[in-house]
Amino acid sequence: MQIVNGFSKLSKNQKIDWLVKQFFQGDLSIIPLLKKYWNSDADLQKLHDEFIENTISNFYLPLGIAPNFIINNKNYAVPMVIEESSVVAAASNAAKYWATRGGFKATVLSTEKVGNVHFVFSGDYHKLVNFITSIQPIFRSRTADITRNMEKRGGGIIDISLINKTSQLKDYYQLHVTFDTRDSMGANFINSCLEEFANVLRDEVFNYADFSEDEKASLQVIMSILSNYVPNCLVRAEVSCKVSDLKSKEIENPQEFAEKFVQAVRIAEIEPYRAVTHNKGIMNGVDAVVLATGNDFRAVEAGVHAFAAKNGSYSSLSHAEIINDEFRFWIDLPLALGTVGGLTNLHPMVKFALELLGKPNANELMEIIAVAGLAQNFAAVKSLTTTGIQKGHMKMHLMNILNQLNASENEKELVINHFKNETVSHRAVVDFVENLRK
Ligand code: MEV
Repeated sequence: MQIVNGFSKLSKNQKIDWLVKQFFQGDLSIIPLLKKYWNSDADLQKLHDEFIENTISNFYLPLGIAPNFIINNKNYAVPMVIEESSVVAAASNAAKYWATRGGFKATVLSTEKVGNVHFVFSGDYHKLVNFITSIQPIFRSRTADITRNMEKRGGGIIDISLINKTSQLKDYYQLHVTFDTRDSMGANFINSCLEEFANVLRDEVFNYADFSEDEKASLQVIMSILSNYVPNCLVRAEVSCKVSDLKSKEIENPQEFAEKFVQAVRIAEIEPYRAVTHNKGIMNGVDAVVLATGNDFRAVEAGVHAFAAKNGSYSSLSHAEIINDEFRFWIDLPLALGTVGGLTNLHPMVKFALELLGKPNANELMEIIAVAGLAQNFAAVKSLTTTGIQKGHMKMHLMNILNQLNASENEKELVINHFKNETVSHRAVVDFVENLRK
């Protein structure tokens, strides 16, 4: 097979033809499949085509709604984009459960974003400190064009400080820059500022009279980039109620439930094998809303997991306690999100999702998403410590099994009825369907 040149310049149809030839042995049947997923509205399709390079089709994920989320006394229907069968059902369950127990409380604790200019310098450290202090106004003036609009919105650069990392890596320093990016995630804003700071370093080192020629020549910028680790862009979500109020159809003994629940969270706090799965459950809720609202789930994932390991061992993101007969369950999450910029003004479904949420600002979206994570975690730990996870999970997965078996509507109805009171397993469903078909 030959390396293809200029692939991005080919039309969409030419790209598909090339794929058919190179990877599908000329099998033309992939063409109608790919085209079936094109939007019939050509303008809308073009919009999606242009989000990335080399688009050949669209890739659907379901958009589901988890209603009854009471957050800070406001009622939300939360949009979730996810492929896993049981996630929206679990979120909806937890939302309804807590709706009658005071709902969720959420508070933004801090909103600071971070970026770094990573550079090396092999001269005198004290001279470097003085140099960075002396060029602070130049950092500001050279980025004035970039920061003007952000400052009008109340944000901008907060602080630019020099960090000495030479004890860990020879000659390595960084500018550690903090930002307030208001309602935008701010990646482009931050990176533009950082790249200009790097230019300032490169230019001004030669104007700084205290440096020797060798010192001037030794300063080299390695890279400038925002950090997705945002431990000071933090939101807390929580639920609490009297232990006795935890009683429900499924929770007959609330005291026992609360104690087991707290113990399960403690296990996730000290045992990384459990913590990773526990946090994965949290991210089921977080990612689904991050995606629906057009935010960068990879950035959120990376930052959240780094935060989970901030004390040197990977640990639970959520915590639980019982104090004076009061059950409390909470989560602190670092979330760098935007409700303006990026896909938020472009993707029609993202616009819909944000409108559904009442056009939240970035802080409100942080609160909603942290709540979605906490709700998901509550539902998972509740199932795990009571019925086990498979009961609910397999019920929701039943439709996937039926679709794999190409079950007819009539067969689906019979199967769903049968498994209302039976344990769902792949084998049991296959056996039941085969029996029906005999
Ligand atoms: C499955 O997607 C998520 C869970 O494994 C989370 C957990 O174990 O807490 C159920």
